[in-house]
Amino acid sequence: MDKKATLTLADGKSLDFPVLTGTIGPEVIDIRTLYGKSGMFTYDPGFLSTASCNSSITYIDGDAGVLLYRGYPIEQLAKHCDFLETCYLLLNGELPNASQKGEFVSTVTRHTMVHDQLTRFFTGFRRDAHPMAVLVGVVGALSAFYHDSLDINNPEHRKISAFRLIAKLPTIVAMAYKYNTGQPFVYPRNDLSYSANFMRMMFAVPAEEYKVNDVLVRALDRILILHADHEQNASTSTVRLSGSSGANPFACIAAGIACLWGPAHGGANEAALNMLEEIGDASKIPEFIKQVKDKNSGAKLMGFGHRVYKNYDPRAKLMRETCYEVLNELGLENDRLFKLAMALEKVALEDDYFVSRKLYPNVDFYSGIVQRALGIPVSMFTCIFSLARTVGWIAQWNEMISDPEQKIGRPRQLYKGAARREVQPIDKR
Ligand code: SDX
Repeated sequence: MDKKATLTLADGKSLDFPVLTGTIGPEVIDIRTLYGKSGMFTYDPGFLSTASCNSSITYIDGDAGVLLYRGYPIEQLAKHCDFLETCYLLLNGELPNASQKGEFVSTVTRHTMVHDQLTRFFTGFRRDAHPMAVLVGVVGALSAFYHDSLDINNPEHRKISAFRLIAKLPTIVAMAYKYNTGQPFVYPRNDLSYSANFMRMMFAVPAEEYKVNDVLVRALDRILILHADHEQNASTSTVRLSGSSGANPFACIAAGIACLWGPAHGGANEAALNMLEEIGDASKIPEFIKQVKDKNSGAKLMGFGHRVYKNYDPRAKLMRETCYEVLNELGLENDRLFKLAMALEKVALEDDYFVSRKLYPNVDFYSGIVQRALGIPVSMFTCIFSLARTVGWIAQWNEMISDPEQKIGRPRQLYKGAARREVQPIDKR
């Protein structure tokens, strides 16, 4: 028997709506006919109780602190797979076998170079431009180079665009960093793994051979896995909404990057590290916590809290482990910011203000410390997040385009403005 939900309106009229059930997680009330039946909209700013789509890609259980990519727990993927295997999984729904992985890696590897004209875009920016401003601009401009594959209804065009974006984001992110430092761009190398290639493009200089450090490369690869996708977060919803108009994938990913830049979203790891630098010392933690509790201060515990996780973000646990591994490898186990972050976390998790609001560390709380230890400057943190999330955005965009229920996204509103009135001549205003 099909499940239904009944809504009784103020005038006593009852309306029935189907209840839809997923594989796991909350059921949904299908209210698509509500406006037609009642002349009323639902009202849900911030979409706290709204499912914008059906998806098979990522599942989050915020209360249990669970994150699954295509059903696989993030802890197992971070331990047993690398980032390109995870990309294959998110895009295709299954983990690759050895030959599928070999072909996928080879295709990505052969798309890592960018058109040489793309380098001209960088010179239009000031050297001290925020790398995210550069990334939004350059990624959006990619569509100008691929007129041959912008038909989003052609699966082959969608496939080649996915490969180009996954392969070229590391090259473009590294170019943004090199431009910022005044060092020459470093070309990708086809004999290196995805993450080793990225580390070399970021840190190699022509004056000497770059030595790959496998522990640091593995740490970066894990950071990319942890950030690869996360259900219908703000930037993914931005990509889906942009794509729903038929915009090309490069423009949609540029829109996702722009949204991720916000400090409440992907910009939080940069903000969390700046917060730790500002606190400076564990003795200053009580004063800072007092400020956070004072709503007028506007201070937030950056890297804490989450719209969905009302338990420990599973990615934060894995990020803290990675942090420890990298700092140990570098002989920085007494890193002051890491110790300060752990002290701050301990204080917050014992304080009822945070516990009662179910505020726990999220993926951004430790990721800044790891990236700083890898030599990545604070201003580049959200670029790395964008690099990792590109595969998630593409997988979600692809799923949306292929969804027969898909329509252009066009929410309505509760209008609180002026009722109809007549324009008066200027001498009567
Ligand atoms: C990411 O959506 C995703 O999945 C995002 C992401 C992904 O992978 O795509 O997981 C990545 O964006 C992680 C979140 C990174 N952002 C931050 O760390 C910034 C700090 N966190 C907050 O700004 C906040 O927690 C949000 C934006 C993440 C979530 O905000 P919500 O769900 O809208 O919750 P809320 O703002 O309504 O907060 C509920 C209460 C409020 O207090 P009261 O009004 O009830 O008294 O908790 C308080 C908030 O003031 N609160 C915080 C806080 N976060 C929420 N107080 C202090 N410090 C914080 N960090």
